[in-house]
Amino acid sequence: MQKQIFLIDKLKEDRTLTKQEWVQLITERTPEAAEYLFAIAREERHAHYGHDVYIRGLIEFTNYCKNDCLYCGIRKSNSRANRYRLSEEEILSCCRTGYELGFRTFVLQGGEDASYTDDRIVRLTGSIKDRYPDCALTLSIGEKSCQSYRRYFEAGADRYLLRHETSNEAHYSRLHPPSLIASARKECLWNLKEIGYQVGTGFMVGSPYQTAEHLAEDMLFIRELNPQMVGIGPFIVHRDTPFADQTSGTLELTLFMLGLLRLMLPKVLLPATTALGTIDPKGRELGILAGANVLMPNLSPTGVRKDYSLYDNKICTGDEAAECRSCLERRMEAVGYQIVTARGDSLNRL
Ligand code: 5AD
Ligand code: FES
Repeated sequence: MQKQIFLIDKLKEDRTLTKQEWVQLITERTPEAAEYLFAIAREERHAHYGHDVYIRGLIEFTNYCKNDCLYCGIRKSNSRANRYRLSEEEILSCCRTGYELGFRTFVLQGGEDASYTDDRIVRLTGSIKDRYPDCALTLSIGEKSCQSYRRYFEAGADRYLLRHETSNEAHYSRLHPPSLIASARKECLWNLKEIGYQVGTGFMVGSPYQTAEHLAEDMLFIRELNPQMVGIGPFIVHRDTPFADQTSGTLELTLFMLGLLRLMLPKVLLPATTALGTIDPKGRELGILAGANVLMPNLSPTGVRKDYSLYDNKICTGDEAAECRSCLERRMEAVGYQIVTARGDSLNRL
């Protein structure tokens, strides 16, 4: 316990640890150390972002994907996935609804779907930014060439989310088909940063074969990249994937990693993810109390939500889903936080 407190204090002081120290802090964590960590993480969060919670309207516009990531329910080999694409009109209609609900950031997320050509993404980006110049637009559409990223940026996209998934190359290879490699993923992230995007990366907690060393390497990579946002959530089994028999990640370790991220990058934007809300009914509230400051509720039309099934039992896909905004408002107020209508740009320097 003494050693844990020492390492947490050192992290707060230096904003980094050695790989060995990360491993020790993660493997020897205790509930008491976690409470101590969360209290300091909240202090940091309150110093920079107060009790505000930013919301992002997530529009899952296509579940077609050319990739075959072993963990993911919309991988191309999953013939049981019910595939859909939203038209540009449908996407714009989601934005309209979202704007009225107070969203000032839209996140367009989808599988790597060739039918959404660069020209279409550029046109869509332009249309959204024309209609909602006061909103931020985030793209989350996977690995693209530097040239493509530049075109989207010039069309008005402000931010880009691309989780690195795991920093360790050998581990990355166990989660992905041979066509996907960790270095290419990282290259994309550096390109995005160079172009001028506000960049989000992240990883799954408790993914198959993950060790504390891997998590330590994730922390070191994130520290080096210095992104504006870090999205983490537990790995959750999807029954129609090769990982059907694996075990899901835990609430407890995900919360601990959230606290560590808040201390390492005090001004980073940190979402309490839908996956966190899925493994525990109070997951998102606990995420906020561990240092998170962003929620990304779904704005996709309710009819398609259950089909964007990355993992089993995803929340907010049923009839209640249209009410996410007010539901989250109540949930946040219950733990002493408030949802705000703001773009919510990162204070972490570009
Ligand atoms: N469990 C948890 N998260 C998942 N993702 C994909 N599949 C799963 C799963 N089974 C995450 C990946 C991806 C993001 C969009 O969703 O980290 O980057
Ligand atoms: Fe989606 Fe409660 S947050 S229904």
